Amino acid sequence: MAIRNIREMGDPVLNKACKEVKEITDRTRELIDDMFDTMYEANGVGLAAPQVGILKRIVVIDVTGENPYLLINPVILETSGEQTGNEGCLSVPGRIGIVTRPNYVKVKAYDENLQPFELEGTELLARAICHELEHLDGHLYVERVEGELMNVSDMYEDEE
Ligand code: NI
Repeated sequence: MAIRNIREMGDPVLNKACKEVKEITDRTRELIDDMFDTMYEANGVGLAAPQVGILKRIVVIDVTGENPYLLINPVILETSGEQTGNEGCLSVPGRIGIVTRPNYVKVKAYDENLQPFELEGTELLARAICHELEHLDGHLYVERVEGELMNVSDMYEDEE
């Protein structure tokens, strides 16, 4: 297990479409372990493989710190409702922006044994699922921001 370098906006790897995972090798397992370690180390709630420079359809999410989800080759089956709120990304450090997302999402994905399962999420989990899946097609949330991208430090300076 290891912490990997998180690629930042401007790195072309973040704008490429990822390939489907067809088999789970030792290297895939190592990548998955490293992705969880890297996400937790950076205090993130989600991380997609291209953010560590690997163009594979793999996402890790944990919005509570106690419910890790691994999604391989994820596909959205259903969405409903709407939520508008702040969103950030480990590849866009120090920034935050307002994004509207579905409030409910149902995805089909594959686990570490390539067995299919479905996952439903609402609120922050739904937001994280939508955000991370877009990384797999080379998109960042900044494309969807309503208004300006803000500096996190500006948002909190009045509270000191
Ligand atoms: Ni992100």
